[in-house]
Amino acid sequence: MDSTITEIAPEVFRISTFHPQFGVQFNQFLVRDQDPFLMHTGFQRLFPITLAAVRSLLDPATLRWLGFSHFEPDECGALNEWLAVAPRAEALASQVGAMVMLDDFAARPPRALADGEVVSLGRRRLRFLATPHLPHGWDAGLFFEEHDRTLFCSDLFFQPGDPAPLVESGIVEAAREAIAGSLGGPLANDMPYTPGTEVAFARLAGLAPRTLATMHGASFRGDGGRALGELGVVIKDLIGRPFT
Ligand SMILES: [Fe+2]
Ligand SMILES: [Fe+2]
Repeated sequence: MDSTITEIAPEVFRISTFHPQFGVQFNQFLVRDQDPFLMHTGFQRLFPITLAAVRSLLDPATLRWLGFSHFEPDECGALNEWLAVAPRAEALASQVGAMVMLDDFAARPPRALADGEVVSLGRRRLRFLATPHLPHGWDAGLFFEEHDRTLFCSDLFFQPGDPAPLVESGIVEAAREAIAGSLGGPLANDMPYTPGTEVAFARLAGLAPRTLATMHGASFRGDGGRALGELGVVIKDLIGRPFT
């Protein structure tokens, strides 16, 4: 396995590794600034691949912030490997994620973020949005890079396969197809529909992102607010129903 690196927004690099066993891309995003930020650590077992990719962009020891949405191996499995190679790095997590997961799991204490809290990267600022159960997990949150309006949206807009790094259309349709295709299978119900889901999508759409940095599948450049609004409707249509 090897990774592909694409600059999807100024100084925002998508590091994509296609995993043939899963038939899915696992994407990390590196924001290169005075205090570099890595979104998603990737799997522990893929750490050497991700490390080589990051090394081609900057000295990994200079990483300052390690972010992820929710506690799962593709989001943060290699967290302790990164903490070992980057002595001044800190994990960023929601208050729930810090207290319930990382307090035990992480080799060093994380920085716990309140909803709406801002983290400075130097020229850029990252805003943390607590989004419990969106895409899934009590601890879930998302990060928004305010300078160029990039939303790191984790599993939202999940697309299987090995698509192009960056597209300007079709992302909602591809995500709809993926959700519809998973219904009835072992991975159905990954995203619960709660009383807060519609409100959360409206809030995310209101950020008006220019780039959507997706963890699995193509990133999107364009009217991100509109795409998020449309995805919210798709999710309500397809999974806004009681669990089965
Ligand atoms: Fe996930
Ligand atoms: Fe994921």
